[in-house]
Amino acid sequence: MGQIYNSKKLMDDIARLQSSHDLIELLSGIQQSMAIYESGIQEVLTKLEILQRDARFSKHNPIESIKSRVKSPMSILEKMHRKGFPISLESIKTNLNDIAGIRVICPFIEDIYTVADMLTRQDDLKVLEKKDYIQNPKPNGYRSYHLVLSVPVFLSDHKELVRVEVQLRTIAMDCWANIEHQLKYKQNIPDQALLIQELKRCADEITSTDLSLQTIRDLIEHHEEEPI
Ligand code: GTP
Ligand code: MG
Repeated sequence: MGQIYNSKKLMDDIARLQSSHDLIELLSGIQQSMAIYESGIQEVLTKLEILQRDARFSKHNPIESIKSRVKSPMSILEKMHRKGFPISLESIKTNLNDIAGIRVICPFIEDIYTVADMLTRQDDLKVLEKKDYIQNPKPNGYRSYHLVLSVPVFLSDHKELVRVEVQLRTIAMDCWANIEHQLKYKQNIPDQALLIQELKRCADEITSTDLSLQTIRDLIEHHEEEPI
């Protein structure tokens, strides 16, 4: 994370690859495998949509919105290069967890754990990785709950297990992460230390707001539950 991608070096790598393998074949192989990742996303999205529909019958919907994306072939190559992995279809499949990505935005902190629980309890999914950056925020202030899931996708003649990365965040955490991501690439700003410090301060303020909002919601919920 945070490393500037050296496009010249990547191009050199790709040029070397072109002489040994067929670059066009690799890119078309990546393009073809995108369909399987789209299907993995579709499977998990369906599960999330079912949970959302089910929540209509309860007092509170723990999901505010859902976004998804498949990593572009160029970003896949850039990441493989940055991490120093060999560039081949097999290596891409085994080394990258985030080709298929879903982001679930929740109103309250507690909702994140509710949705993560509801999802990971489903017995056709396997949890390969769990990272709680809410309990253990990154030093820069980044907070979110990450899951890497393995989801079965049934094709005409076989089953494929597809890895899907799910990031769960509150609205406020999402706002911070989007802005921090934009600013991260502005490395020409003279006072980097101040920028980092201010971003961290914003993250902490956002956390405090998230906690207050959670408390307000708990109070309201408690009040509603009390017999009249
Ligand atoms: P990657 O190899 O970069 O995927 O890191 P990782 O495998 O250690 O995974 P991690 O769970 O730390 O991060 C995965 C994803 O979370 C990233 O691709 C980002 O989308 C998001 N993320 C992680 N850290 C940050 C951060 O500091 N700022 C922002 N804006 N997003 C982050
Ligand atoms: Mg990752």
